[in-house]
Amino acid sequence: MTVMRSVMTGVGGYLPETVVTNDDLARTVETSDAWIRERTGIRARHRAAPDQATSDLAVEAARAALADAGLTAADIDLIIVATTTPDLTFPAVAAMVQRKLGAPVGIAFDVQAVCSGFVYAMAVADGFLCRGNARRALVIGAECMTRLLDYQDRTTCVLFGDGAGAVVLEAREGAGTPDDRGLIGFALRCDGTKQDLLYVDGGPSTTGSVGHLRMQGQQVFRNAVVNIAEAVEAAAKAAGIAVRDVDWFIPHQANQRILIGVAHRLGLDESKVVSTVADHANTSAASIPLALATAIADGRVKRGDLLLMEAMGGGLTWGACAVRF
Ligand code: ACO
Repeated sequence: MTVMRSVMTGVGGYLPETVVTNDDLARTVETSDAWIRERTGIRARHRAAPDQATSDLAVEAARAALADAGLTAADIDLIIVATTTPDLTFPAVAAMVQRKLGAPVGIAFDVQAVCSGFVYAMAVADGFLCRGNARRALVIGAECMTRLLDYQDRTTCVLFGDGAGAVVLEAREGAGTPDDRGLIGFALRCDGTKQDLLYVDGGPSTTGSVGHLRMQGQQVFRNAVVNIAEAVEAAAKAAGIAVRDVDWFIPHQANQRILIGVAHRLGLDESKVVSTVADHANTSAASIPLALATAIADGRVKRGDLLLMEAMGGGLTWGACAVRF
């Protein structure tokens, strides 16, 4: 029996030019390179230029992914942008990306699941592709997280950066086995009762302003390792694979201690964990496709490899997906 699969045929990333080191931050807020490195593994983050918005970052990543796939914008009939930092309250960043790329009229919308947004968006795109409602999708994670930060709050302002990553997904027939290329299983979760652990204190229907990111770091940390591990196991089960068979574990890049904690809990060797958190910091929905693009560019991830991606973020939302590349 054949089934439709969403096959990843192109991947691209984009990081804005400006690099902000821990020492740069320590000049304006009471922190230190040693503290940030020890607690998070972060050395630096990129910051978008004042005239760059999230859609600009998204377009750069999308162009790179299209080139990698050997396609043009004319081939795309579905654009999903996972973001929590849109250019404007509306229209969606995806609509702006469609216009800037010159893509034809099709389906375009944003997904808001904060740091889990890319995993959610992959699952949503899979629904369109596998039901025959779209043929080629751009799934983009793009964020200007630095625009949400309170630079008086050292507990949060050191953790985040800006960037974008994109993948092209194409609907192709598979045999319905875990050996098929494409998205082969996912698990998505949300527990809205934990909103207070991680949120932004502004919005159009409350304060009428953008607001700042607020976080109870230790509580987020505790929830992360347990929650993520469960979702990864569930995604692996849905895919019909064992976690130990995974070639590359590509987590949301929040904190090196969380990445490694989850890998240990799953019995995964640290050498299988793709980590870019040192140089990118936490780019929210962009972090997984950015890490994937990095690991492809340096030759680690190869065609046919089994990838497990996972994320957790505000909501709380979390989830995981298994992809044969
Ligand atoms: N520089 C120096 N000192 C700091 C800083 C800083 N940037 N931030 C906090 N401190 C101080 C605190 O004020 C506190 O001082 P005190 O003891 O005098 O009160 C001390 O360091 C310890 O603070 P804790 O909050 O207990 O530090 P902890 O070891 O928990 O590390 C951290 C904080 C890094 C935020 C950690 O809790 C964490 O990583 N949590 C996960 C959060 C996360 O990754 N969120 C991302 C979004 S969710 C996601 O993507 C999964």
